[in-house]
Amino acid sequence: MKRLFSVTFVIFALLLFAGCKEKNEPKFRIGVSQCSSDEWREKMNQEMIREMLFHDDSLIEIVSADDNNEKQIADIQSFIDRKFDLIIVAPNEAEALTPIVKKAYEAGIPVIIFDRRISEDYYTSYIDLDNKGIGYSAAQYASSLFPHNSQTKIFEITGLSGSTPAQERHRGFMEGLDSFPSLKLVASVDGEWDRGKASFLADSLLSLYPDTKLIYAHSDNMAIGVSELLKEKGREDITILGTDASPGQGMEAVRDGIIDATFIYPTEGHRIIKTAFAILEGEPFEKVVHIPSLSSVDKSNAEILLRQNDLLKEETNKVLLLDEINDQQETRYKNLTRFSNTILVLAIVLALILFLFILLLIRNRKLQRELELQNKTLIEERDRQQKLYQHLDEVLVKEDDFYNRFINIIKTQFADTSMSTDSIAQQLNLGPAQLTRKIKSLTHFTPVEILRNYRLEQARQLLLSSDKTINEITTEVGFSSPAYLTKCFREHFGMTPTDLRNS
Ligand code: FRU
Repeated sequence: MKRLFSVTFVIFALLLFAGCKEKNEPKFRIGVSQCSSDEWREKMNQEMIREMLFHDDSLIEIVSADDNNEKQIADIQSFIDRKFDLIIVAPNEAEALTPIVKKAYEAGIPVIIFDRRISEDYYTSYIDLDNKGIGYSAAQYASSLFPHNSQTKIFEITGLSGSTPAQERHRGFMEGLDSFPSLKLVASVDGEWDRGKASFLADSLLSLYPDTKLIYAHSDNMAIGVSELLKEKGREDITILGTDASPGQGMEAVRDGIIDATFIYPTEGHRIIKTAFAILEGEPFEKVVHIPSLSSVDKSNAEILLRQNDLLKEETNKVLLLDEINDQQETRYKNLTRFSNTILVLAIVLALILFLFILLLIRNRKLQRELELQNKTLIEERDRQQKLYQHLDEVLVKEDDFYNRFINIIKTQFADTSMSTDSIAQQLNLGPAQLTRKIKSLTHFTPVEILRNYRLEQARQLLLSSDKTINEITTEVGFSSPAYLTKCFREHFGMTPTDLRNS
């Protein structure tokens, strides 16, 4: 029985444990090391997070280095130490970040590089955005604004000179200027992707080249900084070109006339995550994915692009909402599964307890029957005993009665010398042998012995309590002669009647 209980308990514990085992480790852990955090990057991060919705068994961790090489190196080292399955990196500056990316790559962790490159090929896949094409388009767009051969003065504010997008945009811009003689580049300075820096540089360059007609900034963030400065200086006659065209910043700036035009720098968050899972799941992927540069954005198309983006945002929100609903359904399903597991466990336990209970019932029933049997036997035994006692009582009563009658005869007729077993047996309606057996079984003496002992006792009483002679006593107690009395007396009491009387 005890064993049965312990088996039940073990089953119960196992089933409960199985029900709780759900919370398991993520299938893959992807680390994203962003060099900075701003509108453009936030758009990319959101795209990556949305793409992860299709891989809810894995997790993504996005960190920003705030344009600081040392911090980004530490961020990547942390992903290596925590053994992430894949690392995605937008390296802040190519030279500075190559060693740590190489370390991750050589540690066997797949590395995807995007937006900015390192200086060597230590990566699994690179999402190559056409920065050169963007620079070239900016030159082409700028030249279209001014009359041919007008040698219009312009200057360029680049992104961080150690970052490959700045280097490639600059190169593309130079190539474009070679093709379009209407422009004359008077300066190219490093704005380091920073709005304040760009504004400061524009200010100092304007004092040098007040007849500048156009400024090309490698990002909308810097272009907006320049625009604020020009507004202060009352030089809104100068054309400002930006880059990125991220909705929420560049596109609105063009629509609202803060800057004149910008160039779409695609964020490609979805594609980056798709490539990551192709690598992780051993599906084909390209070592270098070339993304062509897209159109420019100016007054003519900013509005329509923003509206398209708003529609896209609505659709995206619907996807997010659907995902939220799906998560809720999933949670509900999980709860239901857990609940049904629990019910199942309870049902099994109940069944086991019922089974145990039935077993106990059967055992109990068996014990009951055994008890009843024992009881019955005991009752029978008790009845038998009672009958026996009754019988005994009867016998005893009878015996008592019989014994009393026998004694009574002795007591009343002991003086009669002719008394014998026969005469007593006759009075008791028994044969002499029967009488002798009964008296012997009751007293271990024969009737004659009892009669003689009784007569001797009476003689002793008379010797002590009267002054009758031995002859008189012999007759009175039924002895046949004084000599026989004396012989029995001595045998019984160890002394003669005379001795007794004289003592
Ligand atoms: C955002 C940004 C963009 C620029 C890109 C180049 O962090 O500065 O403005 O186009 O990085 O990597």
